[in-house]
Amino acid sequence: MCGIFAYINHLTPKTRREILELLVTGLKRLEYRGYDSAGVAVDAADQKDIAVIKRSGKVAALEELLQEHIVDLSVEDSVDSHCGIAHTRWATHGEPSATNSHPQRSGEDNAFVVIHNGIVTNYKEVKVFLENKGYVFESQTDTEAIAKLIHHLYCQHKGYSFQELVEQVIQQLEGAFALCFKSRYFPNECVATRRGSPLLVGIKTRRRLSSDHVPIMYTNNKATRGVVPSVPRVNSHAHFQPEEEREVEYFFASDASAVIEHTNRVLYFEDDDVAHIKDGVLSIHRLSGSSTDPHQREIFTLKLELQQIMKGNYEYFMQKEIFEQPESIVNTMRGRLNFADSSVTLGGIKDYIPEIKRCRRLMLIGCGTSYHSAVATRQLLEELTELPVMVELASDFLDRNTPVFRDDVCFFISQSGETADTLMALRYCKRHGALIVGITNTVGSSICRESHCGVHINAGPEIGVASTKAYTSQFVSLVMFALVISEDRISLQKRRADIIEGLHQLDTKIRQVLALDKQVKALAEDLYRQRSLLIMGRGYNFATCLEGALKVKELTYMHSEGIMAGELKHGPLALIDDSMPVVMIVMRDPVYTKCMNALQQVTARQGRPILICEEGDKETMEFASRCLQIPKTVDCLQGVLTVIPMQLLAYHIAVLRECNVDCPRNLAKSVTVE
Ligand code: F6R
Repeated sequence: MCGIFAYINHLTPKTRREILELLVTGLKRLEYRGYDSAGVAVDAADQKDIAVIKRSGKVAALEELLQEHIVDLSVEDSVDSHCGIAHTRWATHGEPSATNSHPQRSGEDNAFVVIHNGIVTNYKEVKVFLENKGYVFESQTDTEAIAKLIHHLYCQHKGYSFQELVEQVIQQLEGAFALCFKSRYFPNECVATRRGSPLLVGIKTRRRLSSDHVPIMYTNNKATRGVVPSVPRVNSHAHFQPEEEREVEYFFASDASAVIEHTNRVLYFEDDDVAHIKDGVLSIHRLSGSSTDPHQREIFTLKLELQQIMKGNYEYFMQKEIFEQPESIVNTMRGRLNFADSSVTLGGIKDYIPEIKRCRRLMLIGCGTSYHSAVATRQLLEELTELPVMVELASDFLDRNTPVFRDDVCFFISQSGETADTLMALRYCKRHGALIVGITNTVGSSICRESHCGVHINAGPEIGVASTKAYTSQFVSLVMFALVISEDRISLQKRRADIIEGLHQLDTKIRQVLALDKQVKALAEDLYRQRSLLIMGRGYNFATCLEGALKVKELTYMHSEGIMAGELKHGPLALIDDSMPVVMIVMRDPVYTKCMNALQQVTARQGRPILICEEGDKETMEFASRCLQIPKTVDCLQGVLTVIPMQLLAYHIAVLRECNVDCPRNLAKSVTVE
């Protein structure tokens, strides 16, 4: 959903070539967020003008274009202080094209340029206002209105600082945004801000930072909202110098993967923070601070390693992430599950357990794959918590204005922690007084920060757009939650012990499933020319059908449908004949007999099901044209194992169909618009 990256150095000499390389590398790390087009803005060789270079296509295409500008940019010249901004786009307003790419500009002279992640919902109003003032728009983007608005305000209020202008701009905007501005009127300065879209700054100094906190400067005057900017003067307080050491480099980015190779010291911005970098000093400004707003922002030390965001020997990030699952689920359980005494501790929700136990119901809310992890664990949560459990797609939940009460506990499941639908649902539930539990993979994300308590799934960075290891870690996190809540239920102790033992052995069993890779690839070779693939199952494995079908659709562009086996006779059976590929999941669990009925209904219509079944289950295998045998585990954990062949199958079909595995068309990793 667009990646933004900016680099600002101060008294740290860099050649222009190094700066361009740095911007391009930053974009490559963020490319999974959007890959329709890319662009950069840097100072032109004369140091007075701004060069904007952008093109549609992936970052590699931009890199080629930059080669053509090597001479006009005097790339071997060294600069002590400089600000460069860069963007990779997932188109929302306007088709992918060079003109619609970012940076967007205020006019032909590139006086102000801006990069944006999000959607400005009132941009048409702002555009009409600016057109009436004589501005001529060149793109179809909402972002161009921002570039022109800041220029308009600059012309009206010449004495304003760069940060004051941005404060005025954001008061006129509605919707979601993370923005970075550069201007020829404010050389070497950069202003960045966010509302609803993620933004952080990485800080690199030669010496240790003098403080782990950056104070906030509050300003009291507000501009009138609406597009007619009657702009009162904003009074800035004294400047803050966060560094003793003035040789400093800053990196604004949509997420930490773009900064980790430079620094592990980052600060996450809150909505409406306006960050200004000038003369090596970072200052954060806000309008009239409320008592609940902390008066400083903390600088965090990231634990992320560069190697975690590299592909290593794998062809694709997705492939790497599928094969990482034995380790990622162990990381999810690390320090939480004690196999020696069968205890489970979730530090992030520990203090809220009594409140959760008293609640009226649990609501699990998410989108896409994250929603499927809720479907996968619902039955176990109902069994172990003895509470009603609702699973909800965030968008639909909001559309229905679902009743939510103070004694509800609402879980928000999100790999990125930034999905707009999920975040909106979170805020809705918070307004209704419910307890908010975040289940996320991204430290410092919006969902993480806005939850009352939560569980970090600790799956490590997931770069492939299609979610894989985050799913199995979300699954395991929710299972651990069910174990925590049922800790003191005597009647459930045997069941709990079996599940804990199952979790103990899970990584070994995942490895056994991954060893089926060659068999899955052979299956993909048979299937990749097909137009459709049905995936059928029920009970604990229904979620695998939904998730498997989603993986096939998004990666291979082949139609696929996850079907609840109990529904077969209510319609989908009409699809079955000897040419329709069907995968059926039939494990020896409480719904085995019912699954066998469905299997026989399929074979009776000349269907030739491909079976995912338990290792050595010859009786079941007799009904299948092909089989993938999966090791047995506890029924409620079986879904962690059955989903892996589906991930591998989707992956191999995508490779055979020559699809872009890590960046499927039209998609983005982090969907920060509703
Ligand atoms: C599918 C996929 C998406 C995401 C969905 C929610 O492979 O990745 O369906 O699961 O967009 O994203 P998060 O989990 O970041 O909220």
